[in-house]
Amino acid sequence: MKKALLFARELVAAAVEKGATVVDATCGNGHDTVFLAELVGAAGRVYAFDIQEKAIAATKERLGQHGLLDRVTLLHASHDDRAKWPPAPVSAVMFNLGYLPGGDHSLVTTAKSSVAALQIATDRLKPGGIITLVVYTGHPGGREEYSEVRRFLTGLPQAEYTVLEYRLINQVNNPPLLLAVQRLYAGRP
Ligand SMILES: C[S@@+](CC[C@H](N)C(=O)[O-])C[C@H]1O[C@@H](n2cnc3c(N)ncnc32)[C@H](O)[C@@H]1O
Repeated sequence: MKKALLFARELVAAAVEKGATVVDATCGNGHDTVFLAELVGAAGRVYAFDIQEKAIAATKERLGQHGLLDRVTLLHASHDDRAKWPPAPVSAVMFNLGYLPGGDHSLVTTAKSSVAALQIATDRLKPGGIITLVVYTGHPGGREEYSEVRRFLTGLPQAEYTVLEYRLINQVNNPPLLLAVQRLYAGRP
């Protein structure tokens, strides 16, 4: 059985076509940004947010190593800054919540900005498009963030969105879980 991050990538890969516009809402060290940049191809565009200069620099370096910098707009900004988002339609949005591995643990995603960013993401999502959130509950504030994000997603209308929760339930040390949202095509179940 797959870990949350791997399953997130599989869902995104199934929903994204070459030339698509996608968002990495928490680029961190840039692993998901590279994954997304490869997926959208030379004609696509990735918008990658992070509030930390250190994360933007790490992502830039990683993209450069892969020759992918020209496909990505790096945004040193919070993911709830609506003006920085690309216009609809967006094919996929990846969130990897929590703190930067190896970084300052106090610079962590919060319920307020994560839910605000999710509101933007769901509004701009293309029919057939997908939002994934890898969620951590082991750090201070993590459970509250999970609970607020889950509450927002549970309230999405089922005629327009399908929401999934995926977690391994016999593992120690609070492994991450996955929440995912797919926008439906109008008139199709
Ligand atoms: C778990 S890390 C992301 C890991 C990343 N996906 C990778 O592949 O390395 C979470 C990131 O979210 C960033 N972050 C926290 N609050 C944010 C916000 N409001 N907007 C954008 N990024 C934020 C942190 O700075 C941190 O780099």
